[in-house]
Amino acid sequence: MSEPIFILKGNIVYSRNEKELAIYEHGYLVCRNGKVDGIYQTLPFRLGGNPIRDYGDCLIIPGLVDLHIHAPQYSYRGLGMDMELLEWLEVNTFPEEAKFESVDYAKKAYGIFVENLRRSATTRACIFGTVHRPATLLLMDMLEKTGLDTYVGKVNMDRNCPEYICEETQESADETLEWIKDVNHRKYQNTHPILTPRFTPSCTDELMEELKKLQMRYDLPVQSHLSENPGEIAWVKELCPWSEFYGDVYDRFGLFGADCRTVMAHCVYSDDSEIARMKENGVFIAHCPESNMNVSSGIAPVRKFLEEGLHVGIGSDVAGGSTENLFRAMAHAVQSSKLRWRLQDDSLEGLTAEEVFYMATKGGGEFFGKVGSFEPGYEFDAVVLDDSRLKHPQPLDIRSRLERMIYLADDREIRAKYVKGQEIDLN
Ligand code: GUN
Ligand code: FE
Repeated sequence: MSEPIFILKGNIVYSRNEKELAIYEHGYLVCRNGKVDGIYQTLPFRLGGNPIRDYGDCLIIPGLVDLHIHAPQYSYRGLGMDMELLEWLEVNTFPEEAKFESVDYAKKAYGIFVENLRRSATTRACIFGTVHRPATLLLMDMLEKTGLDTYVGKVNMDRNCPEYICEETQESADETLEWIKDVNHRKYQNTHPILTPRFTPSCTDELMEELKKLQMRYDLPVQSHLSENPGEIAWVKELCPWSEFYGDVYDRFGLFGADCRTVMAHCVYSDDSEIARMKENGVFIAHCPESNMNVSSGIAPVRKFLEEGLHVGIGSDVAGGSTENLFRAMAHAVQSSKLRWRLQDDSLEGLTAEEVFYMATKGGGEFFGKVGSFEPGYEFDAVVLDDSRLKHPQPLDIRSRLERMIYLADDREIRAKYVKGQEIDLN
């Protein structure tokens, strides 16, 4: 256990809002009972007796938030990227996810995933498991031990998938109920259940209705995929001809924000009606730029989401994305937004470093509550970055050093990581 009060010293940077950074050069960040107590340029006399961890010239940023990642897909990251979404799911995803019926396989594969996530700059994540209850519980046991704070879902799918991974409707609902009970018995501190209907094509209306019952009974949040790929969207229209737009399907079943916290990955092709509904219902968007490039989905209109005041965070979407490193995801968000502006729609300018940093911290953090900022009262999630490996011939200001981290940082830069005031073991 940490002391109730301790202080980190270093170059502190966080997002005031999506346009503006707050910077405290050689400042003091005070943690009290797992929350941010204050930031000071000079330490007040009354705090002088508390332990100070001096990180010298390092940067101290809020922990990064991954709003969308698939744990079982970690084993084929960087492989089989020459397909579009629906083919990619059939050829790569379903055969790999089927292997998690074996708890032995899950132990090996999830062991690698969890270890790498622990060592990354990610402090919070929304994670998809597979349809399998034992493997998903094992994943949650492993994550709990890391100290990271995560939402994890047992995936639901009862149609349009190979028989070896497809659930019966009632079986899917029953297994989800049993899984929720198992999770509640375990009394995790850091690991929370989230309902995870894979996406509309793989969930019948009956299953969606069953999931809504569980959502209300246990007051659970929801994660899924939305408007990622043109073929997928056309398919949803065929399956649910009564829907006004793709997101309307989830909304009809009460699984789209409003009375349940919801995060939807992608939203590459969300039209004005879908955007308006997401805004009205407070749905979070997980922008997954690398995945959207790798499986040729397209580029989401992120600036529009930000201008409309929607909740937007960043997702790595491994294995659509190849890496859990959210610094790469931030850089990809900037880069792809510029191509979108140049090639597709010059009414939406490219994203800035400030904006993507905001999305990866405070934007996505809000899904977890008061997370992703160093304003007083926020949960104390912090990452200490030592950028000295990436030598530079001249002194750089703090903003420039942060921008360089977005493009260049990986695990080698991470000196320390804290979640809710607890230091995470990085070894
Ligand atoms: N849509 C449904 N399932 C998936 C998945 O596993 N990855 C991505 N990127 N999109 C999906
Ligand atoms: Fe995904």
